[in-house]
Amino acid sequence: MEIIILPTPEDVGRVAAALIARVVTDKPDAVLGLATGSSPLDIYRSLAARVADGSLDVSQASGFALDEYVGIPLEHPESYAAVIARDVVEPLGMDPARVRVPDGRAADLEKATREYDEAIALAGGVDIQILGIGANGHIGFNEPTSSFASRTRIKTLAPSTREANARFFDDPADVPTHCLTQGLGTILDAKRVVLVAQGSGKAAAIARAVEGPLAAMCPGSALQLHPHATIVVDEAAAAQLTLTDYYKYTYANKPEWQRFE
Ligand code: F6R
Repeated sequence: MEIIILPTPEDVGRVAAALIARVVTDKPDAVLGLATGSSPLDIYRSLAARVADGSLDVSQASGFALDEYVGIPLEHPESYAAVIARDVVEPLGMDPARVRVPDGRAADLEKATREYDEAIALAGGVDIQILGIGANGHIGFNEPTSSFASRTRIKTLAPSTREANARFFDDPADVPTHCLTQGLGTILDAKRVVLVAQGSGKAAAIARAVEGPLAAMCPGSALQLHPHATIVVDEAAAAQLTLTDYYKYTYANKPEWQRFE
């Protein structure tokens, strides 16, 4: 696991975007795993700027969203289908036909989740999975006690997650109670993972995910099992880590050939 600690949230977005841009430059038809929420917004803005100045072309890449609410209308502005279209597909110039979001409106949700994992496999697997982390340690919507072996499936959102996401809805009661989410096993199958976190509200979750024991109580700790995970955080989100000096030393001495910025 590589831990990169940077001064500001904007630095986090820029450096994570540089890593993703490197993956797409090396493989123009790369498969991207797409997170929603606030954490990756600077990544998408930074990638969009590269697309706008002609230094990056994402039009051949495909994408799979991490999760979707169950039962939310497709046209609702906070459905993840709408968010991915608005924040990712349009600004990055991705081909909408190559971007999929779990179908939280399907009559048969189990079939929809099974088909989602099959579609990821058919696409050759995710080349780089973008992740945020919840204050309770969730990644995707794999809430505490999620199995490390879990696949894409229906989950009940933790009350604290519904509260955290209420900021996106007119009425907190409108936040759906259920979601479809890629499982921890699905996420671990990605060839590379980049998790971003900003702000002191994420400090405890980052410390548990990076330095805590492997534990279903902190789903983010599953990333310790991933052979190629990069964690990019600002100083505030890094505040509860103990090996901070080592992480900074390692990044400062990263060999030139391994650098992506
Ligand atoms: C989003 C997702 C969640 C968020 C997490 C953090 O697709 O799966 O795990 O990454 O809830 O949310 P923000 O970034 O809004 O703090």
